[in-house]
Amino acid sequence: MGDVGLEVTERAPTLSGTDDTADHQLVVRSVSHTFPDGTAVLRDVSLTVDRGEFVALIGPSGCGKSTLLKIAAGLEKQTSGEVICHRDNIGFVFQDATLLPFRTVQGNVELFAELHKVPKAKRKEMARAALEMVGLQRFEDKYPKALSGGMKMRASLARSLVLHPHLFLFDEPFASVDEITRARLNDEVIKLFTSEQFAAVFVTHSISEACFLSSRVVVMSQRPARILADIEIPFPYPRHQDLHYETAFVDKARQVAQLLGEA
Ligand SMILES: Nc1ncnc2c1ncn2[C@@H]1O[C@H](COP(=O)(O)OP(=O)(O)OP(=O)(O)O)[C@@H](O)[C@H]1O
Ligand SMILES: [Mg+2]
Repeated sequence: MGDVGLEVTERAPTLSGTDDTADHQLVVRSVSHTFPDGTAVLRDVSLTVDRGEFVALIGPSGCGKSTLLKIAAGLEKQTSGEVICHRDNIGFVFQDATLLPFRTVQGNVELFAELHKVPKAKRKEMARAALEMVGLQRFEDKYPKALSGGMKMRASLARSLVLHPHLFLFDEPFASVDEITRARLNDEVIKLFTSEQFAAVFVTHSISEACFLSSRVVVMSQRPARILADIEIPFPYPRHQDLHYETAFVDKARQVAQLLGEA
């Protein structure tokens, strides 16, 4: 889970022999995947995500989005094709906050640093900084059961943030929170993305969330998923909630909705 125990790649190998791929945090090339039971999930998927790029992945339920994230993280091995990824420091945020109930918020946020054998005083400092970034600095001594759903997601974000990953994989992280909390968490993600400039792949079923957060929306087809479109979302960061009501934003959302309707 998260950024732990995965194969270490010091630097992404270059594709062309030159160094122009140095900013690629994730390269997926012609990846297809079929599970052992014969379920064909991905078909010839290619995707490149650079640092400072926020890619939303949207597509019909069951088309293979989570599988693609797992393949990127090395948690699943693709049947064919190639994946290049800095796996030493990935942030992975799931739909459930998956906090350890017997650890305080501080203890949970320190977890990955601890597994990376960061000394105690240092990891405490790192966790404090991450908690501050998500606005949870006053809750470090609480246990998860004392947090609201939105606060749990913030703690989960902080836990992944602690090691400042260059690549963040989000699998529908805010699907189970209410709309107002989701808007606040989206603001939080925009703030973090603007300051940290990681590369992100964010799976969501919400067209509005996809267009609000991302610099590109990748639309996938029914299973076995292929990429139907890769749409640029050109609005500058940081973004504010008002963007939702601008005509250019609505036009982008409509374009994504139409593609999904045909998916
Ligand atoms: N280990 C597995 N063995 C066989 N089939 C699997 C396995 N894992 C997932 N699948 C199937 O692969 C397909 C894609 O699953 P995946 O979880 O990647 O979809 P998804 O796009 O993330 O869906 P959702 O939007 O509902 O989360 C589904 O039909 C699922 O049932
Ligand atoms: Mg999924």
